[in-house]
Amino acid sequence: MKNEAKLTSTRADVPDRGLVWLNGQFMDFAAARVSVEDRGFQFGDGIYETIRVYDGTPFAIEQHIERLSRSAAAIELELPMSGEEFVTIAQELIARSGLKEAEVYIQVTRGAAPRLHPFPIGVSPTVVMTVRPVRPIPRRFRERGIVVKTFPDERWARCDIKTICLLPNVLAVERARRAGADEALFVRDGLVTEGTSSNVFIVHRGEVVTPPADHRILAGVTRGLVLEIARGCGYQTDEREIPLSDLKAASEVFITSTVKEVLAVVRVDDAVIGNGEPGDVFRRLYDVYRSQLPGRRRAPGSESVEESR
Ligand code: PDD
Repeated sequence: MKNEAKLTSTRADVPDRGLVWLNGQFMDFAAARVSVEDRGFQFGDGIYETIRVYDGTPFAIEQHIERLSRSAAAIELELPMSGEEFVTIAQELIARSGLKEAEVYIQVTRGAAPRLHPFPIGVSPTVVMTVRPVRPIPRRFRERGIVVKTFPDERWARCDIKTICLLPNVLAVERARRAGADEALFVRDGLVTEGTSSNVFIVHRGEVVTPPADHRILAGVTRGLVLEIARGCGYQTDEREIPLSDLKAASEVFITSTVKEVLAVVRVDDAVIGNGEPGDVFRRLYDVYRSQLPGRRRAPGSESVEESR
């Protein structure tokens, strides 16, 4: 099939592929333009969601749209469309792009207006949705796990809102990469909060533990699904604070996100986790997670879009 042929094409093709919906119109990335006075650009005055598409079907889209509504309410932004309309447009965008393994990105800002801090009056929000081929997860991340580095959590006090103000996240992950790590985890007052674009879990005396979904973290959709799966598998779960010392002493650590799904962490700073390999609890939970995805029939790590590194 044409679309499948596209999916196995080389990464050099990737920048040309994908589609945009901007304020009511479908267009290519090259044609999509937003004002220099957009409040997203000027102030980071906006919110977003990233949704994974499997086999042409957006996964857990209702939860993502619900969270978008919560983020909008929290920043006092009135969404110009209903949740159903967001879903319908996302589905049409995916269908028109022909992409099967993809990411849908939704961003809503408070619109374009001369640069003054207070909310502008009579200005419509800017709504953009994009679909792109999914960012490949390196095969070694799946097979051998990842290394993380911890950083002080210098973000604001409302990390439960999925805002586009991501500078502390950008700086931390960049510094982690430069130090040879794959993700950065934030630590606030000695407690682990979350990753720069992921939630964190530990296995402690057989119990699956993750920090509580309060203002200090984003209540990840994947986090919620993995907690449910863990309970379904018969593990004890708890949402409680995790001191950095517990993270480093855990028998297993893993992170979750829409794009990364579930990834085992095998080293935190200088501490090796467990025996330095992805653990059994991670494997069990990730297997069940994969089995619940739309159109999943293949074993983890066998996607043609994944690269080895
Ligand atoms: N990020 N915590 C933060 C700070 C995040 O940015 C994300 C997701 C998560 C995981 O949430 P979910 O399971 O709903 O994806 C936790 C997305 C993927 C992004 O920034 O593109």
